[in-house]
Amino acid sequence: MSSHFTSFAVAGGTGQIGKNIAASLLSHGLRVVVLTRSSSSKVAEGAEARVVASYDDVDTLAKALQGVEVVINALGQESLAGESGSNLARAAKKAGAELVLANHWGVDLEAIKKGSTGVHPFLLGKLAFPSFVNELGLAYLQIHIGLLTSVFPLLTSVDSEKKTATIVGPGDTKFTITSEEDVGRFVGDAFAKLPKKDLLNQTLGVSGRVATLNELLAGYSITHVDPKEALEQSRDVAGLGVKSFFTWLLLIIHTGESLIKPDNTSVGFVSKDTAVHL
Ligand SMILES: NC(=O)c1ccc[n+]([C@@H]2O[C@H](COP(=O)([O-])OP(=O)(O)OC[C@H]3O[C@@H](n4cnc5c(N)ncnc54)[C@H](OP(=O)(O)O)[C@@H]3O)[C@@H](O)[C@H]2O)c1
Repeated sequence: MSSHFTSFAVAGGTGQIGKNIAASLLSHGLRVVVLTRSSSSKVAEGAEARVVASYDDVDTLAKALQGVEVVINALGQESLAGESGSNLARAAKKAGAELVLANHWGVDLEAIKKGSTGVHPFLLGKLAFPSFVNELGLAYLQIHIGLLTSVFPLLTSVDSEKKTATIVGPGDTKFTITSEEDVGRFVGDAFAKLPKKDLLNQTLGVSGRVATLNELLAGYSITHVDPKEALEQSRDVAGLGVKSFFTWLLLIIHTGESLIKPDNTSVGFVSKDTAVHL
C-alpha cells in the first residue's frame, strides 16, 4: 500500500476552487475524476469527467466514485443548504474511499465558536462535518483559507469607479486572503508531498497573503459600520439572509478571527498569486 494518496474525485471540479484543485493534482501526476452535473461542463485536461444527475442519490454517487481514495468536496455554496455534502460522504464510504476533504474552505470555526462572534448559522453544517465523517468510518481533512480573493470586492461593496467601499470597524486588523489558484496549488502540494498519516483527520491552513482592509482599500473612501451594529446584523438571518452572512464575514475580519495559522512551510507551498483586484 502506498504511503501517499494517488487517486482523487473532485465534486464541483468545474468551479472556482475545484478546477484549480483538479489542475494542481494533475500537475503532480495524480489521477483525477471530476464529478459534474452536466456533460457539457469543461473539466481540466487529463481529468476524467463523470456525470451525476444530482447529489441526491447515494448509490449513483458511489458508482461514480469507484476506484477513488480521496473525495474532495468543492461544491458551490448553495449545496450547503441541502444533503449534497453528507450524501457525497456516504457515497465515499460505500465506494471504499479513505478520506473526504470537506467543503470547508474558510476559517477556524472551532475557535470562532468559543469566541463572542459565534459561528454564522449558514456554516453550522461545516462545523459538524468532521464528526459526521468520522462516524461514517472515514477520515476527514479540512483546509482553512481565510477569505477567497474573488469574494473581496463583493464583500466590501467596492465601487471601483466612485472609489468607495464599506467595511466593519476601523479596518486595521490583519486577515488572510487567498486566491482560488493558491488554494488549488496548496491542496495539490499537500497531497503530493505529505504522507497519508499527516492528512488523516487533519486541519491545514493556507495563507496567500496577510493584509489589513485599509491596505487593500488604500485610496478608497470607506464607510465604517460599527462592530456592535454589525454583530446584530450578522445574527438577523431571518431578516437579512445573505447580507447577514456577508456582515459576519466582515465582522470576523475586524475581530482578527479571519487570520489563518498557515501550514505553507510544512507543505512546501509558496504563494504565487497575491494580487487583489478591485
Ligand atoms: N472562504 C471564502 O471566502 C469562500 C468564498 C467562496 C466560497 N467558499 C467555499 O468554497 C466552496 C466552493 O466555492 P466555489 O466558489 O469554488 O464554488 P462554485 O464555483 O460556485 O461551484 C462549484 C461547482 O459546484 C457545482 N455546484 C454548484 N451549485 C451546486 C449545487 N447546488 N449542488 C451541487 N453542485 C453544485 C457546480 O458544478 P457542476 O455544475 O459542474 O456540477 C459548480 O461548478 C463553497 O461551497 C464555499 O463553502 C469560501
